Amino acid sequence: MSTKLIAPSILAADFANLQRDVEMINASEADWFHIDIMDGVFVPNISFGMPVLRDIVKHAIKTIDVHLMIVDPDRYIKTFSELGANILTVHYEACTHLHRTLQAIKAEGMQAGVALNPHTSVSLLEDTIRDIDLVCVMSVNPGFGGQSFIENTYDKVKKLKQLISEKGASTKIEIDGGVTNINAKQLMGAGADVLVAGSYVFKASNPTETIADLKKIVS
Ligand code: DX5
Ligand code: ZN
Repeated sequence: MSTKLIAPSILAADFANLQRDVEMINASEADWFHIDIMDGVFVPNISFGMPVLRDIVKHAIKTIDVHLMIVDPDRYIKTFSELGANILTVHYEACTHLHRTLQAIKAEGMQAGVALNPHTSVSLLEDTIRDIDLVCVMSVNPGFGGQSFIENTYDKVKKLKQLISEKGASTKIEIDGGVTNINAKQLMGAGADVLVAGSYVFKASNPTETIADLKKIVS
């Protein structure tokens, strides 16, 4: 059985038919729900917030993977735990005291993730990698769905995989942005564990089959 995971990104769902899209993911071979929270400050876009997440959680039966693209995420750690997040990912670039933030996420019973913008080197995680459950490698500049995949991501994932093994950590590597059937296999070969896919899944004529195809590619 494959341990490689697929996490459809709700950002690309139809918000007027959100329950339908949540049920589609429930019934599919997807592993996680990827939930993008944007504040219009850390990234130049606003997505959705707590009330929407609350309603997603009411229907979702799989792991809730929340990606915070917000400044000063410490303000909301407790709130996201109460809302039902299982994994809470903050941006490296948004945290002045990253280690403290990671401890606070874990203290609330969630797994702690760190996202890296395309310009942020994986070497900056040398001193925290053992405290991180998930690194989300941004393969686009965060803020929007439907962007093109940045090719440098493969090298970055290889470096991160090496850092994780050197440090004896058990951190998972997640790739977020521009993921399709074209790059999925190579990403797994480089060391990825989780693929986030938004537009590729939701803009497909058959999202359930598209998820199954991605799952087959990574297995
Ligand atoms: C981008 C978000 C992604 C986005 C991915 O800022 O973090 O999760 O939803 O969308 P696609 O797969 O369309 O690039
Ligand atoms: Zn995301």
